[in-house]
Order: sequence, then C-alpha cells, then structure tokens
Amino acid sequence: MRSHYCGSLKDNLIGQPVTLCGWVNSRRDHGGVIFVDLRDRQGLAQVVFDPHHKQAFATAEGVRSEYVLRVEGRVRRRPAGTENPHLPSGAVEVEVTAVEILNRAEALPFQLDETDLGEPVRLKYRYLDLRRDFMQKNMRQRHKAAQTLRRFLEERDFVEIETPMLTKSTPEGARDYLVPSRMHPGQFYALPQSPQLFKQLLMVAGYERYFQIVRCFRDEDLRADRQPEFTQLDVETSFLDEDGVMGLMEEMIRHLFKAVLGVALPDPFPRLSHAEAVRRFGTDRPDLRVPLEFTDVADLMRQVEFKVFSGPANSPTGRVVALRLPRGGELTRGQIDEYTAFVGQHGAKGLAYIKVNDAATGRDGLQSPILKFLPDAAIAGIMQRTGAQTGDLIFFGADQARVVNDALGALRLKLGADRGLKQEGWKILWVVDFPMFEYDADLKRWQALHHPFTAPKAADVERVDLDPANVLARAYDMVLNGSEIGGGSIRIHSPALQEKVFATLGIEPDEARRKFGFLLDALKFGAPPHGGIAFGLDRICALMAGVDSIRDVIAFPKTQKASCLMTDAPSPVDEQQLRELHIKLRKPPGKAGRRGGGRCPRERKGLAGC
Ligand code: AMO
Ligand code: AMP
Repeated sequence: MRSHYCGSLKDNLIGQPVTLCGWVNSRRDHGGVIFVDLRDRQGLAQVVFDPHHKQAFATAEGVRSEYVLRVEGRVRRRPAGTENPHLPSGAVEVEVTAVEILNRAEALPFQLDETDLGEPVRLKYRYLDLRRDFMQKNMRQRHKAAQTLRRFLEERDFVEIETPMLTKSTPEGARDYLVPSRMHPGQFYALPQSPQLFKQLLMVAGYERYFQIVRCFRDEDLRADRQPEFTQLDVETSFLDEDGVMGLMEEMIRHLFKAVLGVALPDPFPRLSHAEAVRRFGTDRPDLRVPLEFTDVADLMRQVEFKVFSGPANSPTGRVVALRLPRGGELTRGQIDEYTAFVGQHGAKGLAYIKVNDAATGRDGLQSPILKFLPDAAIAGIMQRTGAQTGDLIFFGADQARVVNDALGALRLKLGADRGLKQEGWKILWVVDFPMFEYDADLKRWQALHHPFTAPKAADVERVDLDPANVLARAYDMVLNGSEIGGGSIRIHSPALQEKVFATLGIEPDEARRKFGFLLDALKFGAPPHGGIAFGLDRICALMAGVDSIRDVIAFPKTQKASCLMTDAPSPVDEQQLRELHIKLRKPPGKAGRRGGGRCPRERKGLAGC
C-alpha cells in the first residue's frame, strides 16, 4: 500500500512520487491550503493539499485527527524558512495528488501529546497510549534489548528452551496464582513464579547452557517496579562456579548497555559483600549514585544517659548510626521536621541531629537538642568518625537494626535527591556473600534468603543445620542505580545437602518429597554442579528508558491492584464455566456481573462490593 515511510522522507527524494500510509497527527487549515502531519511508525511527514487537486482537497477538508490515510503525491522542498529542523523529514513535504481515507476515528479520549495524563485513562485506552511517541520508543528499545541479549547468549552456545506455564508451586517466596483443573476436580496448577526447578532439571538433562525470556507470575503486593506477571531473562549453566557465572553475565550486561545506549559500564563490576552493603547503606541494593554513608556509633553510646541511644546500643539486635549530610547546616527547622516525619513513615521513632556550626571548637560549635545527653568523648568520636566539617549536619538513627536500616536508608536516598547530591549516570555492582538463612520471628523458623536450592559456601556446609545464622550462600545479586536487576546462585547438586537444607528450613521429609520429590530424585541421577541467574527484564528496560515505573515498558500492564483496565480482567465468569471447574462460589456473580465490566451489581450502584 505504501512506497515509503513518512519518517524516512529526505531531500534525496525531491521530485519523486511517493505513496504514504499513516495517521493524521495534526491538520492545519491555512485558508486555501490544508497541511496534515501524517504519522507512521517511523515518524512524521508534512503532506500538503492544494485546492487545484480538487478531489484530494475536498477529502482533506473532512479529515480529522487520527484518521487513517493513504496519500499519493510528489516530494518537494519546503519553501525557505518553513523547514522544521526538529523533524528528520523536516526539509521536505509531499504535494498530494490523491488521498484515500482508510478509516475514520472518533474524537480521542485524550490528546496523544498531552504530558500529564492520569494512569487510569492511559491503561483503559492502552492502544492509544501505545501510539504515543515515547511509548513507541520504549517498546522498540525493549525489543532491541531482548534481541541483543538473545544474540549474545546464542553466540555463547546457550540454548533457548521453554518450560511449562501450568505447573507446580515453586518457592520464590510470593503467593502463587492458581489455575483450577477441569480434569482433576479439586486440584490446581500453579503458574510459575520462575522456571527455577525446570532449569535445574535441564542441567541434570545435560543442556549445560540454558536461557529463556519467560513470563513469571507472583501474587504479591505491587509497586512501581513489581507486576503480577513480569518477564525474566532466565539463565542456568553447568560446570561454572560463581566467578564463571558472574563474569559471563556482566559481559552480557556490558554488551547490552553498549549496544542499546552506547554506555560503557565498568569492567569488572565492583563487588560489595551483603554485610558491607547493609553496614554502609542500610540495604542490599544500594544506590551508589548517592555519596552518603552510614557511620556506626553504637559503641560510643553504650554508657550515655540518653536511653534512645543507649538502649539499641546495648541490644544485640539494635543499631545506632550517624549519617553526615555535607552542608546540611543550611536545613531549616521546618525541613528537619519534614525529614523526621519522613523517617517516621519508615518506622523510625525520631530523628536526632547535630548541626556543626564550627567543627574546630568542640561542643561549643555544635547545636542539637541531644547535645546535653552526650559526654565529650562520644561527641569527639562522632566528629572524628563521620569526618564532619563546619556547615554539615549529622542525622542519627537508633532502634532495631531493621528499622534503622529501612528508615535511614530511605532518608539517604531522599537527601540525595532533595539536595542535588545524586550523581548522573550508571552505578552497577554485585552484592555477594549473602547469608543463607534469615530468621522469621513471626513464623519462628529459618527462611531461605534466596531460595532453598541455593548452595552454602563450601566452608559453611557443615554448619547448615548447626548454626544457620552464620552460613553464607553462594548467591549474587546485580544492582543498578539502587534497583535489584538480577539475582542468582550456585545450586545444591547433592541430594543429601538439599535434604539437610530443607530440614533447616523446617520442611519435613514427606513435605519435601511431596513438593520437590522430582528434584530430589533428579539430583540422584548424576546432577552436574550448576548455577545461574535471572534478570528482571522489565526493570532493566525501565532503567534504560529512564522511566520510574516498569509499566511504561510493558505493553499491557496491570494496575497496582492487579487488574487490567482495558479488558477488565479479572472478571466474573459464567456459572457453567465454574461448574466445569468444580468451583462453587459462595455467592454466584450473576449474569449481570459479566456485562457490568467486572464489577458486581452492588459496586455498579456505587455500593461496597459483594
Ligand atoms: P528472583 O526472585 O530474585 O530470582 O527474581 C529475579 C529478578 O526478577 C525481577 N523481579 C520482578 N520484576 C518485576 N515484578 C516482579 N514482581 C518481580 N519479582 C522479581 C527482579 C529480580 O532480581 N529463580 C530465581 C533466580 C535464580 O536463582 O536463578 C529468581 O526468580 O529484577
Ligand atoms: P526526645 O527525647 O524523644 O524528645 O528525642 C530527642 C531527639 O531524639 C529528637 O530530635 C528526636 O527526634 C530524636 N529521637 C527520638 N527517638 C529516636 C530514634 N529512635 N532514633 C533517632 N533519633 C531519635
């Protein structure tokens, strides 16, 4: 139907006939001449309707935004002074000789160039939202990223293998999406939270290097960087240790950033132990663009009379840290109050501070409500350790370590953004030496920090069941600009060790058999040493596109409440379907439910739902 793309018209085509197809991006009637910017996947072209092409001109008079046109005409240079340097085709235009309306469009619910559209309307009319320039760029960049990764892995002898979507629950730590079985009344498939067990079985099966770009499903609380279904680049290898896997994967990510963005990432990526990351930044996914760090001061506070500090300082699970903010002395009382409220949202009970008016004159140069509680030695220690200078401000967090890490970790990021301290560019690192287990005080048992198939460090194997708190895992996370973009580990390949880990996690042998019997069996039939990683493709693409939410790099995402505003999923189904699946609802949705756009009759009347 077309000879050229709109966006590809250049002055080398001047004088040539062209046929274009596309959407009316805009139409301007300049009294006697009608200008249309016609848009296709490559961009815009200006097409001009002169009255002497009578029929075309008459048709153009009835044309509206987003009509679909096919135009024939000749490329000509734009008159001097009317070129558009912002458009690739801006030097030329098309004098239209014939036009065909391929389809009409009703007035759109929003203008495509509107900048602050609410997300609900964007998601309801996602096919229009996806027409917009920046979404087209995001989707194409994602395509390029996926193809680049595929080619890299193909060149390194990886095999792409699909694994089942209707499967059995795997323990990635989230809730499963379940699918009822028609053939097996009362039984359910689980949608995979990841292909973890299947990829390990592919190693037992001898494929050695597997990858898959695969959808994973997790029914968890959603955030800007979490969707109920998301995409992993999933990788598993045999006969590589952690340095082998990490080396290969960082080469892949370096190649990806070079190919897609022209960005050179460091070689090698820096590594930080989990303990050091938490000590310096309060988190296992530190954003190293923010040049602020925690300083531990608990040992200076054990004897002070200020209970807020001495309590946590003397508790084995407590933590007291200082966070020095260079030039923080500029903060007003009101701003400090706002930061106090901010850390309060993250669980902190307060936010003590010291203003350093003059670093050279000891106690006299400092200003703080807590100064009176602190002896000279403690103050001297704080000043020396934080390296505070005149004009700085030092914040303090004292509480259970988890609270301090969360609250001051969040404050660190906020200060970085508010005070313009955040560096531009890309800060990537590996976090390594994770603890193997963490204690869940509510459930009163040990949980796997990664997943139960992760191998312990060789030196810790003997301690797995005796001293779980001090066992390190052969696990690694890749962190980019404060976002966990990938995580993996070397796996357990011995059935005896796997059973020991299950036992430490409180998984009884018969439960282990029921849930993972197939894996335990497979490990007995010559399982090679193996390990791998999975990357969050949505997160990587969102970072590369410079958007805050992964929803902007997913064609048809769900809302924070896991619904699709366009199709109205989830929605009630016919009773017949439920009967076939042997499901009985406490209250049947009724026929109206379906037509009512996924809401129950009460909700459609504005009442609380049924
Ligand atoms: P993990 O659970 O760490 O590991 O997941 C790997 C990566 O997937 C991304 N991710 C998500 N992205 C969007 N929405 C979500 N709800 C979501 N959850 C996770 C993150 C994360 O780093 N089987 C193991 C991997 C392995 O051991 O090889 C796994 O799934 O970027
Ligand atoms: P108070 O004695 O409760 O008035 O607190 C004195 C100062 O300590 C105030 O600046 C509080 O914000 C701060 N503060 C209180 N609790 C904590 C805490 N857990 N961590 C850090 N600072 C705190």
